[in-house]
Amino acid sequence: MNKDLRAIIVTLACTALLTFSIGAQQPAARPVAPELQLARLSQISKDAQKSRQMATLSPVDFGWLLFVLENWPSLAGQRGVPDGSKPFGAPGPVVWQTWKTAPEVYVAPNQTPLPWNLGLAGTPVLAQGEIDGRTLLDVNNNPVMYQVLMNQPTFNYLVSQKLYSFAGQEAARNNISSQIRFPSDALEVKASWRILDPVADQTRISHYLTQRVTYTGSDGSKLQLVVGLTGLHIASKVLPKWFWVTFEQTENAATTKTKLNLPIPPDVAAGNAKMQRLLGGTFWQYYMMDGYQTEFLAAGKPTLLANSQIETNFQSSSSCITCHALASIGAANNPGGARFAFFKNFQGYIGAPPTSPFGPGPQQYTQLDYVWSMREAQRPAAKNPTTTSKEQVR
Ligand code: HEC
Repeated sequence: MNKDLRAIIVTLACTALLTFSIGAQQPAARPVAPELQLARLSQISKDAQKSRQMATLSPVDFGWLLFVLENWPSLAGQRGVPDGSKPFGAPGPVVWQTWKTAPEVYVAPNQTPLPWNLGLAGTPVLAQGEIDGRTLLDVNNNPVMYQVLMNQPTFNYLVSQKLYSFAGQEAARNNISSQIRFPSDALEVKASWRILDPVADQTRISHYLTQRVTYTGSDGSKLQLVVGLTGLHIASKVLPKWFWVTFEQTENAATTKTKLNLPIPPDVAAGNAKMQRLLGGTFWQYYMMDGYQTEFLAAGKPTLLANSQIETNFQSSSSCITCHALASIGAANNPGGARFAFFKNFQGYIGAPPTSPFGPGPQQYTQLDYVWSMREAQRPAAKNPTTTSKEQVR
């Protein structure tokens, strides 16, 4: 074929294509706001420096970025991957719901967690009870339930350092030259869910992220239920002391037997108003940020942050960053227990964390880079038959 003829054919083909696409054009769809553009958000989150800058300079925007990215509908069959073909708010499990759950990571002694993509099937069994041992009820008298999950960088770090096991944590403690430090793309969530009653909650079911779960009743029977997300903590290692942010469903005061007691700061309230407008028409418009936390102190005063669903009864002494700074392991024979006790009479530590109990000494504790779920690591039973996997906290 000669050159000119080829050029003409190509030109004709292009014209035809162009004509076709103009002819087929739909009425212009509403452009997706930058706050809800997956490609843009992913690009920022993959750039550690950009993320750190945003977390420091625009913490409200960064908190919402984490919320939108991790609540993006997930790609079926893989863990932790958003499905770019779906818009935010489309049905199905979201990204963080496909991460590894704490029970999958803190496996029985001498076992190793399954590789990242294995073990995806099955409905999660949710834990009852808050960290102070109390249970929050909803207006139907059903308990609010909890779940801790982590993304792949967090999981890889725990596995590579063998920190999923109690023995591995003890070894890290004994190796004074090592320091536990998660990578900057580590993310974790703690979620709270309430049972959606098909009758009593009929008008509200469409206001929640929902999932089907197996719930063990007080008589031991197993039930399949639909639960709705009432609260979501997100922690990101983008900053050395992590970035702490928490969200909750806006109707919690009416549907659960508690309410948010701490004021929502003006910058957070403005961000909520903006995002709820953008999320109109999806169930996500019924969620709000309670606040974020990046420092122990602000203007010399302790910073506070709580979620009504997760720190229900100690909101006025709840500081995510302070309590998590106390995440630790002690020497095997520490009379104070294997973990530093983070409550004094049901009150949390606030402000700068105490320094004296931390160090290599026999009665001191080694910090675990703010990750409290590491207390779930199971001790070898033979060595210490009376100790439960969850340490005494009060
Ligand atoms: C008084 C202590 C305390 C306070 C305050 C607290 N947490 Fe936690 N948090 C824990 C414990 C203990 C766990 C371990 C999981 C469990 O037992 O529920 C945990 C688990 C988590 C997890 C899962 C990852 C991990 O560390 O294991 C996230 C994320 C989290 N909390 C975020 C927050 C946020 C955000 C706040 C503040 C709004 C907060 N926490 C307040 C004690 C606390």
